Amino acid sequence: MDEIKELLVKKALEARKNAYCPYSRYSVGAAVMGEDGRVYTGCNVENASYGLTVCAERVALFKMVSEGCRRFTAIAVATADDGTDGVPCMACRQVMSELRAGGEIPVYDCDPSGRVYEHTLDELAPMPFTLAAPEEEADE
Ligand code: THU
Repeated sequence: MDEIKELLVKKALEARKNAYCPYSRYSVGAAVMGEDGRVYTGCNVENASYGLTVCAERVALFKMVSEGCRRFTAIAVATADDGTDGVPCMACRQVMSELRAGGEIPVYDCDPSGRVYEHTLDELAPMPFTLAAPEEEADE
């Protein structure tokens, strides 16, 4: 396994242990490699008002943006599944498309047994919604 893959898989599996999922009992962990070389992790966080739940992937990506990094180069997602659950969900694929770096973005789908299924973001989200953003000017 290459180094980044190994690191992201390890971090995603660790983050999965923090999943707050009393309703679905489905724990998910995620780890993204920021373009800044830092790893950002997340787990799913559910809510009694079910629709407020946030997936592990988006928690990790939003942490990355909130800490000043806008692009990621790879992501690992950990579930207990055998690779057939289809993570990341389509909503997360859209968010991933927004925040991707250029080039190929590997998506590692892993589980505690050590299995890793590998796809690219282009395979998982071939035609994301895009909108030209006007030049950014943040509030003072
Ligand atoms: N979930 C994720 O965290 N990521 C995905 O890609 C799919 C679904 C979470 C949301 C919810 O807490 C639980 O898994 C079951 O849907």
